[in-house]
Amino acid sequence: MKKDIDWNNIGFGYMKTDYRYVSEYKDGKWDEGTLTTDDTITMSECACVLQYAQTCFEGMKAYTTADGKIVVFRPDLNAERLQSSCAGLEIPVVPKEQFLDAIHQVVKANADFVPPYGTGATLYIRPYVFGKNPVIGVKPADEYEFRVFVTPVGPYFKGGVKPITIRVSDVDRAAPRGTGNIKAGLNYAMSLHNIVDAHQKGFDENMYLDPQTRTKVEETGGANFLFVTKDGTVVTPKSNSILPSITRRSLLYVAEHYLGLKVEEREVYFDEVKDFAECGLCGTAAVISPVGKIVDHGNEIVFPSGMEEMGPVISKLRETLTGIQMGTIEAPEGWIEVIE
Ligand code: PLP
Ligand code: COI
Repeated sequence: MKKDIDWNNIGFGYMKTDYRYVSEYKDGKWDEGTLTTDDTITMSECACVLQYAQTCFEGMKAYTTADGKIVVFRPDLNAERLQSSCAGLEIPVVPKEQFLDAIHQVVKANADFVPPYGTGATLYIRPYVFGKNPVIGVKPADEYEFRVFVTPVGPYFKGGVKPITIRVSDVDRAAPRGTGNIKAGLNYAMSLHNIVDAHQKGFDENMYLDPQTRTKVEETGGANFLFVTKDGTVVTPKSNSILPSITRRSLLYVAEHYLGLKVEEREVYFDEVKDFAECGLCGTAAVISPVGKIVDHGNEIVFPSGMEEMGPVISKLRETLTGIQMGTIEAPEGWIEVIE
């Protein structure tokens, strides 16, 4: 039986669910992993994750389709991205089959928390890995945990699909040859002061520019950018220091193969932004959230789509992607995994 939750009105927050998955890495190998009802972790005060932030994570979602199945979206890509994040932090790589099995087990065990079709809510899945044993000299841990928990979520930005306002950040997110392309906890730790400051000043998110020249658009704290030109081409920034968003990669495919639009992945100069017709933020949490306004130290760029409604192309992209995820539009081969 589904839990008694007001599905239509949940925000993007943590809610404790019944089961989570835990696997431990010791003596050079991952154990087979298990589900547990214990939502707490006990570890040394000197655990590598606590002292040196040796941790990375993933974010993905489970959906209830129109015909009542529970599905997850392209989990193989999350498995691969976690592997590159692990490699970048000297964390032993989680085998792909183990990752996929863990996702299946946790979602299935918490099926009562998967929001029903049509509520707009989804089940957010958070896989993560961290160095657990005591480490005081700067070196990687020898022992790790790989965990997966889930929590029902609503829209990431309050107001749902209303256009948001973002500002150009004075702070840089990731160095040109740094950790921007992996999902390391440290990339989010560095963004916390900046997001609190942005919120205090009335902005929903920060637009980060490339640190080397500060002329090119990178991404926000939690999503990649998509722009639409006045003649309907979908443009997304290319950079080695942004997270390779699975949503963005999927939306580009949808734009080209479902909507017949031209797509470009290339360097995007901030100077060009004022000429675009539409702008959106894309990610698992953000889905595709319309951006109405970008503020650069008093200079405002208001997109022609405005502050009231999503632009037509962003709207079509969102509709098509969510249709694929919810099973009302046929998905490309291999994109949807059914949880049995
Ligand atoms: N960029 C950052 C910094 C993110 O945290 C996320 C969220 O996962 C994304 C982009 C979007 O990636 P994805 O579409 O794979 O969720
Ligand atoms: C996601 O979209 O899964 C993320 O990890 C972004 C985070 C800011 C919630």
